[in-house]
Amino acid sequence: MSRLFEPLSLRGLTLPNRAWVSPMCQYSAADGVPNDWHLVHLGQFAVGGAGLVLTEASAVVPEGRISPQDAGIWNDEQAEAWRRITDFAHAQGAVIGMQLGHAGRKASTRRPWEGIGTVPASEGGWPSVGADDQPFGDYAPARGPRPPSRPALAAARGPSAGRRGAVGGPVLAGEAASLRLGPAPSSGFGAGPQQ
Ligand SMILES: Cc1cc2nc3c(=O)[nH]c(=O)nc-3n(C[C@H](O)[C@H](O)[C@H](O)COP(=O)(O)O)c2cc1C
Repeated sequence: MSRLFEPLSLRGLTLPNRAWVSPMCQYSAADGVPNDWHLVHLGQFAVGGAGLVLTEASAVVPEGRISPQDAGIWNDEQAEAWRRITDFAHAQGAVIGMQLGHAGRKASTRRPWEGIGTVPASEGGWPSVGADDQPFGDYAPARGPRPPSRPALAAARGPSAGRRGAVGGPVLAGEAASLRLGPAPSSGFGAGPQQ
């Protein structure tokens, strides 16, 4: 007998079933702010009964975006826009989580339907920041690690992880980290454990 539609408890979180939606980049945000597209994209899965819906990889710092159109969670405008989406998902009985991401050397690239390669500064691109300065394939070289990079990342992740509480989701996941965005629908706001 399939257990697909049975609840699953993980620490303090109970997911209503085991049908979960993987993170899927949409390359459709402006300045990292999710919009109606993201509401419909993620909301449809919640309406359809998915127990857990994960957002696309969302950048914790602007330079960590894969493309200029990636969603983010580095400022309060983005957090408020996410809240609309997480509130909707919760109202459908779904748990919604956020995948935090940092694209490293793969940052500042074109979204898939606009070709491949690095987006130049003249088109809104930026120098990528990676684990080293070796270019990824044909992409432009990254700025390699420097002494401040680890504290800078911690400083970026802290507020981003904190904003997930403001957004109201209990799960965090990671492309460098996957996190759960706030509590399950019936529990408190932002108090859920990080998975
Ligand atoms: C359009 C699209 C966007 C994706 N974006 C992400 C992403 O943001 N983060 C991630 O970890 N994986 C991403 N993936 C990979 C999926 O999350 C998933 O791991 C992959 O599709 C394999 O799962 P499946 O066999 O159920 O399709 C993406 C996949 C697709 C098709």
